[in-house]
Amino acid sequence: MKRLLITGAAGGLGKVSRKGLQGLAETIRLSDVVPIADAEAGMEVVTCDLADEAAVMALVEGCDGILHLGGVATEQPFPAILRGNLIGVHNLYEAARAHGVGRIFLASSNHVIGYYEQTEHLSGNAPHKPDGWYGISKSYAEAVALMYWHKFGIETAMVRIGSCFPEPVDHRMLASWLAPEDYLALVRRVFKAPRLGCPVIWGMSDNDARWWDNAHVDYLGWRPKRNSAEFAEKIAATVPRPDKDAPAARWQGGNFTAEPVKKEK
Ligand SMILES: NC(=O)c1ccc[n+]([C@@H]2O[C@H](COP(=O)([O-])OP(=O)(O)OC[C@H]3O[C@@H](n4cnc5c(N)ncnc54)[C@H](O)[C@@H]3O)[C@@H](O)[C@H]2O)c1
Repeated sequence: MKRLLITGAAGGLGKVSRKGLQGLAETIRLSDVVPIADAEAGMEVVTCDLADEAAVMALVEGCDGILHLGGVATEQPFPAILRGNLIGVHNLYEAARAHGVGRIFLASSNHVIGYYEQTEHLSGNAPHKPDGWYGISKSYAEAVALMYWHKFGIETAMVRIGSCFPEPVDHRMLASWLAPEDYLALVRRVFKAPRLGCPVIWGMSDNDARWWDNAHVDYLGWRPKRNSAEFAEKIAATVPRPDKDAPAARWQGGNFTAEPVKKEK
């Protein structure tokens, strides 16, 4: 790859990606709506609001792959989700089409299926059951990705990230945890695979506890190495187990299912 664009590069996964993906492309272009003052040497930086159509068109020019992390990453009032996640995804895919970008890693979320019970086991084609406007915005992003795949041949990895943090910190995350090194290995596979298509990929490590099945993307050759079981004893000893009917213990989306619809103040 000549130039990889990383959106949301100032955020949590953006920082992990900037450090961990060096060498994946000849040039890495970092972008976020907030300025990035601590960019790694040799990386390009473009400050850009995803809701600004002309700015996104210019941002994507010259890139041949996009790691799309940018946008609202929690339950927020609808106007913020509209700008970052709905208008932003429209602008990004239109710019990708205009500039001939062939492949996108889309940071989707487990919150597109948040209202499945933790007793259920899902493959990649389970119907969406989003648990809030954030989850709905990721369902929309996946629909956009599918349309641009079928109509224009742009490949997207629709990665439903579980919980990508240095370690799981509660009982739910024993199933949803994605170790940062497994995430980085997935990004590399997505951009190096000879053929990708437009699959759902569950963003989880090789956890003993699991709700999701990635057998349909075996062809990618991504084999996560970490397992949340290494933290199970620590969590059992230090984190109170929620009541079995509490949202955190009942739904795959956990506490997001209990979030109200938020309004702008
Ligand atoms: N970290 C996880 O465990 C996890 C889980 C599920 C999904 N995801 C998804 O992965 C992506 C990255 O997650 P994160 O944890 O790094 O989130 P984050 O909030 O730390 O980073 C998101 C970045 O997007 C930027 N952004 C927001 N609105 C924007 C706009 N209008 N234009 C341009 N940039 C904008 C923010 O400034 C921020 O730096 C997000 O899309 C999130 O929904 C993450």
